[in-house]
Amino acid sequence: MEKRAIDDSDTITADPAFRADVLDGLTAPQRAVPARWLYDRRGSELFEAITDLPEYYPTRTETRILTESGADIAAKVGRGRAVVEFGSGSSAKTPLLLRAITPAAYVPIDISGDFLRDAAAALAQDFPDLPVIPVEADFMEPIALPEAIRGLPKLGFFPGSTIGNLVPRTSVDLLRAMRESLGDDALLLIGMDRVKSEDVLVPAYDDAAGITAAFNLNLLDRINRELGGTIPVDAFRHRAIWNETLTRIEMHLEATRDVDFAIDGHAFQMAAGETIHTENSHKYGPRDARMLLLAGEWTPVAEWTDPDDRFALLLAEARPRRKAP
Ligand code: TRP
Repeated sequence: MEKRAIDDSDTITADPAFRADVLDGLTAPQRAVPARWLYDRRGSELFEAITDLPEYYPTRTETRILTESGADIAAKVGRGRAVVEFGSGSSAKTPLLLRAITPAAYVPIDISGDFLRDAAAALAQDFPDLPVIPVEADFMEPIALPEAIRGLPKLGFFPGSTIGNLVPRTSVDLLRAMRESLGDDALLLIGMDRVKSEDVLVPAYDDAAGITAAFNLNLLDRINRELGGTIPVDAFRHRAIWNETLTRIEMHLEATRDVDFAIDGHAFQMAAGETIHTENSHKYGPRDARMLLLAGEWTPVAEWTDPDDRFALLLAEARPRRKAP
């Protein structure tokens, strides 16, 4: 009796957007669930663990670039800008940038308010003279920046190759929105993962310890728990697939046998080998990266990479509002 009441209330309080995305997504010909639902509490913890994995090179490579090229980046960026970080999360790489460039203010933007406030408070302690003004918002929507930084030139900061998790069309929309909210004399420092050998790419998204698999499979547990699902999680396996044509890693959950399950009273059937697509990570070569920025109304001005050219940090300036040429 008691158990039932708890289950019912779980189902009723479930996020309606999650429910709609899952029910719609699992009905489409290529079943797919938007990646944002991977990041519940457990998902966020598993993701933090991924960034430390030996196979997962992007985090440590980008950190190395920021460390080794900090002085050079500072020379190009200049002092006194307001740094606006999109999707700041735990702000792990931010101190490296702030230390290098001596900004006038720091504005971290994140959708997860608790995470954001903790990270902002920790940062404010380490940088006592720097105004830190967190903004809780979804950076995919237009953002009104705080009054306090209105008159300052901005530096947008978008590390982690998060741009690669969007399809190109959506990333162009986002770059244009950033250009709009950051203003005419803004700069943007953005991390993009390079195209490289499948032998390096696939293990980065399918590690030997199985952490990325656990991160992906956690979505099915979340559906079962929050949406009253009956998915047999042991009948699914994690797949990381290199899509050469679209130059992206795709994460899927593959049914290893024919399965029947229900979610909130809706019946689903999947045949062995069918997949649910859960995430993309697009990779950009040198020319691809610059083309993407240009399409998003940003003019590339400099770039820094690691010695193996695995990852790139690009600096771009807001494109002047005038007619070509
Ligand atoms: N943007 C990073 C990347 O694409 C982080 C990331 C997103 C990620 N989803 C992931 C890393 C899934 C590992 C697995 O690499």
